[in-house]
Amino acid sequence: MQRISLIPQPSRLTPADGELDLASLGAIVAADPETTGPAWLLSDLLASGTGLRLAVADAFEGPALRLRLEGRRPEADTTAAEAYRLEVAPGGVDLVAAHPAGISRGIATLRQLLPPGSLRAAPGAGAVLPLVSIEDEPRLRWRGVMIDVARHFQAKDFVLRMIDRAWLHRLNTVHLHLTDDQGWRVEIPSRPRLAEVAAWRAETVVGHAREDAVYDGTPHGGYYTLDDLREIVAYARARHINVVPEINLPGHTRSVLAAYPELGAGQNRPVATTFGVFEEVLEPTEESLAFAREVLDTVAEVFDSPFIHIGGDEVPTTQWESSPTAAALMEREGIAEVRGVQAWFTRALTEHVASLGRRAIGWDEVLDGGAPGETVISVWRNEAYIKKAAEAGHEVIAIPEPYVYFDHYESTDPGEPLRIHGLITAEKVAGWDPVPPGVEESAVLGAQCQLWSEYLPRPADVEYAAFPRLAVFADVAWAAPEARRASPVMDRLVPHLERLDALGVAYRPLEGPRPWQAGGTGARKRSDVEFTEHPAE
Ligand code: ACM
Repeated sequence: MQRISLIPQPSRLTPADGELDLASLGAIVAADPETTGPAWLLSDLLASGTGLRLAVADAFEGPALRLRLEGRRPEADTTAAEAYRLEVAPGGVDLVAAHPAGISRGIATLRQLLPPGSLRAAPGAGAVLPLVSIEDEPRLRWRGVMIDVARHFQAKDFVLRMIDRAWLHRLNTVHLHLTDDQGWRVEIPSRPRLAEVAAWRAETVVGHAREDAVYDGTPHGGYYTLDDLREIVAYARARHINVVPEINLPGHTRSVLAAYPELGAGQNRPVATTFGVFEEVLEPTEESLAFAREVLDTVAEVFDSPFIHIGGDEVPTTQWESSPTAAALMEREGIAEVRGVQAWFTRALTEHVASLGRRAIGWDEVLDGGAPGETVISVWRNEAYIKKAAEAGHEVIAIPEPYVYFDHYESTDPGEPLRIHGLITAEKVAGWDPVPPGVEESAVLGAQCQLWSEYLPRPADVEYAAFPRLAVFADVAWAAPEARRASPVMDRLVPHLERLDALGVAYRPLEGPRPWQAGGTGARKRSDVEFTEHPAE
């Protein structure tokens, strides 16, 4: 019997002897209109990777691959909505779910049951499945990957490819970090200087930003038009993946202030060309809020996500401490400490996002000055804040830097390419539990891995940082601890690499970088900057 190895590990998997050649089937049957889209996606993928074209029909007498919605429909964005049952039997395939999202997850599993060559863009394998019965449901509701397109812009094509890869790993969220000091990546028609000015920087620091500053003299930038974003959102939606936009305010706003200096304290520095935390922040004015609301209105028109991320990390209070505008606000609003100025922004932005029918997410610093109870907290500093946010009644997305910041070094190999700092091996990700001791699992909406891109300039750099750690992360976020213990993900990773090979992903081999991936002795050479975890609180 062929050994079945999947990532993530399904809840229950019962193999049987034998195989099913899909060429013996007459159709993909999608009786419900909501399963027609996924059926055609599957049909197209089978055709390109195996050469077998199965037509989609709403009814067919005879052996078929049947997609069926069954049972009481669960709410969207619940684990039950993503549950599915997949039966591969001698007489055909049944993929059954209570919600179309479950059908989509079952298709991802079905693609992994096929030979790896079937993931190629031209026929690379037969359309043969092992006989098996699978019942599956994710552990966590939110399983995400964040792509930082602000520090280094990536063309839309790469975002679409990352959506495909997220789908194959049964993730359900792609968080786009769209704005930061080094660039603004979303067209806002009413604020044209964002695309004209904020999206571009003159050059970029070479090597690690903490070392002697040498710059490359090469302009960098770009932004997505609203049509690009609509395409990204629709492409992801077809795969039941939620694209969450992040507009990072009121800090990390050097790019905004380069375009609209009147929103700040009067400084007029260009879009940042190096990395770190800068003291420039938005002034707490009605003009700043009007700007934020205008941006969020446009974002909500284009993105269908139930969540909009409002940023809020690393907001220095330096400028507010000497700002008459901030002092007047504090006096007027009875804000005792300057950190409360950030809370004023958080409240206003959370309320505005709610008025758009969405939920706001903030980085965990928004807790420091206080945040409305409905703000979801993406906890990054450390696990102690997961507990703190949960105890304060917030829903939490677990993103702790020491475990899921994939811009950290992959190994101690001196040949690793330049990274920000740290060490997060695939084994470390495999050993992580997103629900720390003492926290109710229901308070943890989910988990996410991060591809901050200060030191990931090209798609191949992002892929090296992402894979195979993202596969391990997907296993952690989806599979129940007992299923993971019974079948360690590091064992399943080896055959999984054949899938990444077939897809052409520039992943990091388990034994270390290939010569063209290594940092070498030039600008990309390893630089061991000390990583200090944030203190517990
Ligand atoms: C963050 O890493 N500053 C969210």
